[in-house]
Amino acid sequence: MAEVALELKCITKRYPLVLANDCISFDVRWGEVHAVVGENGAGKSTLMKIVYGMVRPDSGEIYVDGQRAEIHSPADAIRLGIGMVHQHFMLVEVFTVLENIVLGGEPRRGLALDLETARREVAALLEEIGFELDLDAKIEDLPVGLQQRVEILKTLYRKARILILDEPTAVLTPQEASELFRFLREFVARGNTVIFISHKLAEVMEVSDRVTVIRDGRVVGTVETAQTSIEELARMMVGREVILTVEKRPARPGEPLLVVEDLWVEEAGKKPRVAGVSLEVRAGEIVGIAGVEGNGQTELVEAITGLRPYRGTVRYEGEVIAVPDARKVREHKVSHIPEDRNARGLVLDFSTRDNIILGDHYKPPFVDRLGFFRDPEIDRYAREVVETYDVRPRSIHLSARHYSGGNAQKIIVGRELHRRPRILIAAQPTRGVDIGAIEFIHRRIVEARDQGMAVLLVSADLNEVMSLSDRILVMFEGRIVGEVRPEEATEEKLGMLMAGVTA
Ligand SMILES: Nc1ncnc2c1ncn2[C@@H]1O[C@H](COP(=O)(O)OP(=O)(O)O)[C@@H](O)[C@H]1O
Ligand SMILES: [Mg+2]
Repeated sequence: MAEVALELKCITKRYPLVLANDCISFDVRWGEVHAVVGENGAGKSTLMKIVYGMVRPDSGEIYVDGQRAEIHSPADAIRLGIGMVHQHFMLVEVFTVLENIVLGGEPRRGLALDLETARREVAALLEEIGFELDLDAKIEDLPVGLQQRVEILKTLYRKARILILDEPTAVLTPQEASELFRFLREFVARGNTVIFISHKLAEVMEVSDRVTVIRDGRVVGTVETAQTSIEELARMMVGREVILTVEKRPARPGEPLLVVEDLWVEEAGKKPRVAGVSLEVRAGEIVGIAGVEGNGQTELVEAITGLRPYRGTVRYEGEVIAVPDARKVREHKVSHIPEDRNARGLVLDFSTRDNIILGDHYKPPFVDRLGFFRDPEIDRYAREVVETYDVRPRSIHLSARHYSGGNAQKIIVGRELHRRPRILIAAQPTRGVDIGAIEFIHRRIVEARDQGMAVLLVSADLNEVMSLSDRILVMFEGRIVGEVRPEEATEEKLGMLMAGVTA
């Protein structure tokens, strides 16, 4: 067996707007966890889809265990011992764990018979790797952490020896992530290989042996984990020095501006998405809500911002809105940085300028008394926002789809903050955004707090919650299950609460 498990030689892939992979070359050894890191949009997923046969490269060569490989489909990749756990799982929700594992495995003597053989094989595999999993549970009833195990098991059942995981910890609690890391270390200790995609540098430092950094579709370099640091990796990733902590003074909270009392979001016949949440956010403080995604945070934000019906009371500066809708809530000086930038944040075909006034476009100063647009005033305002919020390029006429993730988000943050709200609801404000823009957005949010705004921050990124918040609430299965002061918050403590473990 060769020392090198996988070698990539000048892999190139062009999409209409970007060169996603620009002559990428590096190798991955047997027995190592090899991390591939890069900012959002750097080209990591594209590269891995090429290795797994889901995307055809324009040019380049792949060698598996020293042999030139032609990988035209996932079936080819699987034959070569390559398995992949995708960023978005690809399981069949209504099937059981066992069915999902066996699915696509070419049954020979009818499914029923094969399932019994498969059950024994899978049970043996579980034993070997020390996973616990109910083979007869339906996927839809499993928490994401366990669904991911099914994905992993599925690849192992197909005898994968090179396991690719694309951003596997995005959906996990810190404890689940540690368990995953333990498994990965054991897996490579047996001579296998893991390719671990991430943009979270702390976990890369923890789990990997070597790291390849990708920026703008190119390899910046490959380094030994033991000989690098988070700072160096961050520098390689963004190409400059970065500050990873948020500097802020202690909060000086004033009167409560946002008060939520016993709020419920329910759908007939289903478990409540939000189950009796009460909270308050004062002027001049940032209240962070931590939690694994899918525990009601999205629905809570949608209720508060008038996008979804609810039971309960929400007071905006003491006032209750009889029939809340997004426009009315906005008129109560509430701003909203939505979690889904493309669906709710920006109209991609609109210009920067039109996106910047969106939501306030029907009011002065943007319209005159007869209701006509005041174009010079709109242009002036848009230029001011683009300048203040460092949107690049500086154009106000470019359509939104042409901006990078970071700049698109700055347009939204600019629109929401420049109107000087009293209350800001910020949901995943830096998701998919490069480090430079993260820093910038964090500073703007803290500034807004210091000017007396009440900020409710919802984020799946624990570091973000811990570094920005003045108080931290943890949400689990629709409820607030705990409050932690930031100076006492650790990943472990929050992680336990996020997993529903209360003292
Ligand atoms: N199917 C596609 N069509 C067009 N552009 C794409 C497609 N997939 C990815 N891209 C673009 O290629 C670049 C790299 O994307 P991706 O490989 O997903 O990056 P990463 O996984 O590092 O975040 C991005 O600019 C992305 O918008
Ligand atoms: Mg990706």
